[in-house]
Amino acid sequence: MAPSAIETVAASAPIATKKIALHTTTAATGDYKELSPTRFSRENEIGGIVGFEAAKYPHYLPTWNRDEHYPPLQPFDHYEHGKDADTTFPELIPATAKRVDLTPTIGSEISGIQLSKLSDAGKDQLARFVAERKVVAFRAQDFADLPIQDALDFGAYFGRHHIHPTSGAPEGYPEIHLVHRAAGDTTAEKFFATRTNSVAWHSDVSYELQPPGTTFLYILDKPETGGDTLFTDAVEAYNRLSPALQQRLHGLQATHSGIEQVNSSVARGSIKRRDPVYNVHPLVRTHPGTGQKALYVNPQFTREIVGFKKEESDALLNFLYSHLALGADFQARVKWEEGTVVVWDNRVTQHTALIDWKGGARRHLARITPQAERPYETPFEG
Ligand code: SIN
Repeated sequence: MAPSAIETVAASAPIATKKIALHTTTAATGDYKELSPTRFSRENEIGGIVGFEAAKYPHYLPTWNRDEHYPPLQPFDHYEHGKDADTTFPELIPATAKRVDLTPTIGSEISGIQLSKLSDAGKDQLARFVAERKVVAFRAQDFADLPIQDALDFGAYFGRHHIHPTSGAPEGYPEIHLVHRAAGDTTAEKFFATRTNSVAWHSDVSYELQPPGTTFLYILDKPETGGDTLFTDAVEAYNRLSPALQQRLHGLQATHSGIEQVNSSVARGSIKRRDPVYNVHPLVRTHPGTGQKALYVNPQFTREIVGFKKEESDALLNFLYSHLALGADFQARVKWEEGTVVVWDNRVTQHTALIDWKGGARRHLARITPQAERPYETPFEG
């Protein structure tokens, strides 16, 4: 399976070994193994090193607090604000804004509005529009320049903040999940000595009982070119299947595991904020706002189909993973620009970072990850 350039990169602490690791996980077995170490020096990031400027947002550099331990997450009632939205999107996309759709089913870019200024009605429109378009890149935003607490307050409208079990976070803000590769780190290039690509499709923390919904990722520092994020549309992936296969998938459930991610972090001497969890979700889930049905299995965290024999489960899961991965005609590629905030609906998409940039440029992003409802399915409609 492909390596992870995602949560696992973000998740690894430099505390004991000064290593950030890439991992791979094998479909349906959950084998998690370190592929490639790299280094992170806080002083170098703050001060800059020859050939590289200092980090633009040093207060967003990752920290790992060994004393931080949380009890298991408790169920909560999620309210889907997108259901209240005016679907003409008057505040989110006023006549003065520019909207460009990247593909027919997935991906839009919006410029000319400031997310941070949206009223609650505007936020409802945001939740709904993102659910419809699956991923939306908002350009020239002030989000990264807000006080971190203001960014978190904005995100809290969409659901309870998820605190990642292992990833680095800005000092005092464990609700922010950081993706960080330091300046001068050429691991990304070395990585291709043993791997042909860095694609690692996943839906964030799908192992939680209530995985994230409307999710925010904003750029802090970026390579000049490369390091794009690729998204696949799990609704269109479902729609492309034959009615016979769709019908067979309904009623099936799969296990999703966060155990390997936490174990891998602990094995490297890094942190565990919470004991890992393992949950069962339907293979086809329904979006509470749009009513659309989406495939809900991903190679990073899904392990097996409940009630199937191993070979049966592997075969079906691997078919679904290939289908989601190969559907370039239901995928969108987001190119980061300074000031970009990307918002996706984690319930109906999967994504992968691409670690293809050269020369050891810094790549640094922050994610706000509001949790949503427990996945549920509605009956096959034919
Ligand atoms: C993520 O998996 O949430 C981060 C994706 C990225 O680094 O582009």
